[in-house]
Amino acid sequence: MSLHHPPLDRLARPIRDLRISLIDRCNLRCTYCMPSEVFGPDYAFLPQRELLSFDEIVLLIEAFAACGVSKIRLTGGEPLLRPGVAELIQRIKGIGGIEDVALTTNAIALPRHILALKAAGLDRVNVSLDAIDPEIFRRMSGGRGDVKRVLDGIDAAANEGLPVKINMVVERGVNEHEILPMAQTFRERGHTLRFIEFMDVGNHNDWNQERVYRAADILKDLRRSFELIPIDAAYMGEVAKRYRYSDGAGEVGFITSISKPFCGDCSRARISAEGKLFTCLFASIGYDFRKWLRDGEDPEALTQRIVKIWSAREDRYSELRSERVSDRSKKVEMSYIGG
Ligand code: GTP
Ligand code: 5AD
Ligand code: SF4
Ligand code: SF4
Repeated sequence: MSLHHPPLDRLARPIRDLRISLIDRCNLRCTYCMPSEVFGPDYAFLPQRELLSFDEIVLLIEAFAACGVSKIRLTGGEPLLRPGVAELIQRIKGIGGIEDVALTTNAIALPRHILALKAAGLDRVNVSLDAIDPEIFRRMSGGRGDVKRVLDGIDAAANEGLPVKINMVVERGVNEHEILPMAQTFRERGHTLRFIEFMDVGNHNDWNQERVYRAADILKDLRRSFELIPIDAAYMGEVAKRYRYSDGAGEVGFITSISKPFCGDCSRARISAEGKLFTCLFASIGYDFRKWLRDGEDPEALTQRIVKIWSAREDRYSELRSERVSDRSKKVEMSYIGG
């Protein structure tokens, strides 16, 4: 049952979008996300019993749907490392109020799973790929990624008729020369490419401002080869700023968390793989919904918890970032909280 008065946070933002990390593991080791020096053979990932079960995830989504959530994004880590994702999607699609179920993946395992995912009702896929040059991508993925396999995954999804967007994290001195080749490749293939500014998430990627290649510079590079025209946001709170190619060959987007934060209408909440609710990508403290689920709280009680937490929310980390350059408090890892 949806609430008559869905909660608004302290900045009058509703809650619409829930990102759920299904697992904190990944088969790649992208240097900006899970650097292999830190996420090595001895790294203590969450054991199976600590992950939310599918029953728990479904209960939780029902409670969030009552509060106004209509979009679900499954992420990780790499969500396809969790067995049974298609079954979960089918169950989520059956929840009242849920209109859109998307997956963020590195695409390596997509060819194997795509038929089941599509049949389950998956609406769309976002694929992470930071370079089209095999050697640069291999390096950025910690020596593990293979461009060919990612492209096969993208094709598999596209062949099933699923909309696919490509996410490219741009890091100065690492892959800015790949901006044009990536644009060319995905223009031809008909997929939207989104450029993501390297962000200061987690504690291990040695982030600093000098390593950010800003959206304005990316746009300048692109405009040397293509004519690009800005387009209006598709919906309130959209993360990416969009531009279309003047010749009609699709569009590109920019995720400008550093140069132009988009906290103002942020309606996103995140659930970590072990069931903690984070009201911001950069939050350091999560609310332990797994405990409340395992204590047997009923759906109304869970809904009331969400209302209370959301009503008190005032996060806008990216907007405050510049004022907080010396803040060294420990943040959660992106692979744990979900990108
Ligand atoms: P769409 O619904 O397809 O637009 O998805 P999305 O862009 O929200 O999701 P995706 O998983 O593809 O994320 C792309 C990038 O945007 C990732 O680097 C995310 O971390 C970043 N991102 C998404 N939401 C937020 C947010 O609320 N704050 C910040 N700072 N970055 C975000
Ligand atoms: N900065 C920007 N984007 C990041 N991602 C992971 N870590 C970072 C970071 N430090 C991206 C991934 C994926 C998305 C979910 O988040 O590349 O596309
Ligand atoms: Fe894995 Fe995605 Fe993180 Fe790369 S960015 S290590 S693919 S979770
Ligand atoms: Fe939302 Fe936090 Fe990202 Fe701002 S920094 S857009 S509040 S998740």
